[in-house]
Amino acid sequence: MPQKKEFKKITTHSIQSMKEKGEKIAMLTAYDFSMATVLDQAGLDIILVGDSAANVMAGFETTLPITLDHMIYHAQCVVRAVKSAFVLVDLPFGTYQGDANEALRSAIRIMKESGAHGVKVEGGEEIIASVEAIISAGIPVMGHLGLTPQSINKLGGYKIRAKEEQEANKLMEDAMILQQAGCFALLLEKIPATLGKKVSEKLQIPTIGIGAGKYCDGQVLVIHDMLGLNIGFKPRFLRQYAEMYQTMLGAAQTYVLDVKANTFPNESEQY
Ligand code: KIV
Repeated sequence: MPQKKEFKKITTHSIQSMKEKGEKIAMLTAYDFSMATVLDQAGLDIILVGDSAANVMAGFETTLPITLDHMIYHAQCVVRAVKSAFVLVDLPFGTYQGDANEALRSAIRIMKESGAHGVKVEGGEEIIASVEAIISAGIPVMGHLGLTPQSINKLGGYKIRAKEEQEANKLMEDAMILQQAGCFALLLEKIPATLGKKVSEKLQIPTIGIGAGKYCDGQVLVIHDMLGLNIGFKPRFLRQYAEMYQTMLGAAQTYVLDVKANTFPNESEQY
């Protein structure tokens, strides 16, 4: 059982100190009260209210359509459940790129209206003015490099990034720029493990990997993927910890049978 004796409330300081002590950082996504209650109890260090809510909660094909209001709603639900974990919220597409003042306003809305503890943004040098503006208001920022799903139309697909030297060098430069700007951590998505290792060793701030190998300072997965709710999604990096789709399907099918057969409710289940 994971113990949370040293840090009751996880903060950017405790996250940094985990890197320094070599303790791996555990992060998963959540978008609602019930799921966040379970994850907080399980000892997650960081709960990410990811814009993957667009996919797994709303059924969109990409993360692009989700709005700031949607993200604030999901963040509020998660924050109400969490006692210990650091709650991090994705700034959605179109709310921080290209305009540092708008980025700051978006991040302030998330912090004020949800009570979350920090925000995550996708991109490097090209969004650095936005990152600096948000950090200048005392808001912790996690960067996100490698496969950045908000740029899917530019990237052209969800394949592994930074395999070639040029893109790997750019990623390393961006990582240094984000650290220099004051990011408290950096998420690395779907890059070679060797590059994940290099970045993690070079940076003082922690790296959190998803498909970025075992040398990252922490790991993150989308909760629906790791619980086996997102059937058919089986990338190599995904370890599935449960078969929730089958479990839920079986329960719902049995319920239908019971209702049809009039065996639910029985005598003890009625007033
Ligand atoms: O939105 C999300 O869930 C993410 C993943 C990379 C964890 O950013």
